[in-house]
Amino acid sequence: MAVDLLLGLQWGDEGKGKIVDVLTKNYDVIARFQGGPNAGHTLEFDGIKHVLHTIPSGIFHDNAINLVGNGVVIDPVIFKKELDNLAKFDLDYKSKLLISRKAHLILPTHRLLDAASEASKGKAKIGSTLKGIGPTYMDKTGRNGIRVGDLEMDNWEEKYRALANKHQAMIDFYKAEIEFDLAEMEAQFFEAIEVLKELTFIDSEEYLFQAQKEGKSILAEGAQGSLLDIDFGTYPYVTSSNTTAAGACTGLGVAPSRIKEVFGIFKAYTTRVGSGPFPTELFDSYGETMGRVGREFGATTGRPRRCGWLDLVALKYAVQVNGVTQLMMMKGDVLSGFDKLKICTAYKYKGEDIAHLPYNIERENVQPVYTELKGWKEDLTTMRDPSEFPQELNDYIDFLEKELEVPIKIVSVGPDRTQTIHR
Ligand code: IMP
Repeated sequence: MAVDLLLGLQWGDEGKGKIVDVLTKNYDVIARFQGGPNAGHTLEFDGIKHVLHTIPSGIFHDNAINLVGNGVVIDPVIFKKELDNLAKFDLDYKSKLLISRKAHLILPTHRLLDAASEASKGKAKIGSTLKGIGPTYMDKTGRNGIRVGDLEMDNWEEKYRALANKHQAMIDFYKAEIEFDLAEMEAQFFEAIEVLKELTFIDSEEYLFQAQKEGKSILAEGAQGSLLDIDFGTYPYVTSSNTTAAGACTGLGVAPSRIKEVFGIFKAYTTRVGSGPFPTELFDSYGETMGRVGREFGATTGRPRRCGWLDLVALKYAVQVNGVTQLMMMKGDVLSGFDKLKICTAYKYKGEDIAHLPYNIERENVQPVYTELKGWKEDLTTMRDPSEFPQELNDYIDFLEKELEVPIKIVSVGPDRTQTIHR
């Protein structure tokens, strides 16, 4: 059986957690393939809101196995907190949560290095979530990292100490003014490691290979968004992993030829949290309304998200890089009551209109060129069928489908599972 992918097409926070939760009933295995606790996947059902950071969003269903793949970086302390939250809901997670031995561990000193590096950058800071993501992936590619499988070996604490000592020298080098109590952080870390060790560690590529042979259905769950991809995003204002489709192959050990559907998720407008270019960003009442009605605050850091019109140039780029086969439009309900809706269909770049993403999309380099559509007044949150959609919403959807040349299969009209309309 083939593997399907689910990816965010913008700067993250598109609503991947909600859609994975909705789709899980169709899959035997849900597998996270990159990123770490910088992600915040929000799910709402039965009047309760759950936020997951590392654990795949299929965990609330009985039928699915949830796998944390080799491409993910795990902070045991945050992982333990996630498990504690699940335990509050009497969820038997142990029987359906598997962890790749090849996933890398985020050490306390990785978090400190993240903070020291950001503090040293001044105005050029990335706006990192400070979860230690960058330094952990640096140690992975630098071939110094500690992996989950190392915890099964006798000498892992020696390896830990050598790496933590090296990190301390690097932290000193930054001369950054950051306050921390490493002894306390390490105590929490080692306590959490013991909890992690109670879970099942596996050779996940072999597990997924066998699952495919047995005809099981697999959904690979992405984190962050395509424009935060380390290669294809707005570098250096990106995260440190491949958030695009190719990342699922390396982050799980799934061959490209096995991938079937690529579900691309986008918001009906655009948001970004942290620093970096954002051509359609709004600083007026429209942007303020999107932020307020859409409750646009980071699920991991609580930071307000920057808001703007839908950027079709960037979205088309993401559709192409990922080979998206089906689109899902989130938060259409937030735009109810807008008198007009603007969609960026080109950039003014060096005096010309261009329809592709150039190397540099900083404000001084590109200015958005907009097409204007009429807004709708109706409240979408109570709608459950596309036949109820106002004409203006159908026009908005038709315009996007024509431009992107990919069907929009799901329109989400609220955070709850039930507010998901299939077309
Ligand atoms: P880092 O991955 O925590 O180092 O953050 C790098 C950049 O990616 C920052 O601008 C973050 O705000 C952004 N970022 C990281 N994870 C997420 C996410 O899950 N949603 C949205 N933005 C994210």
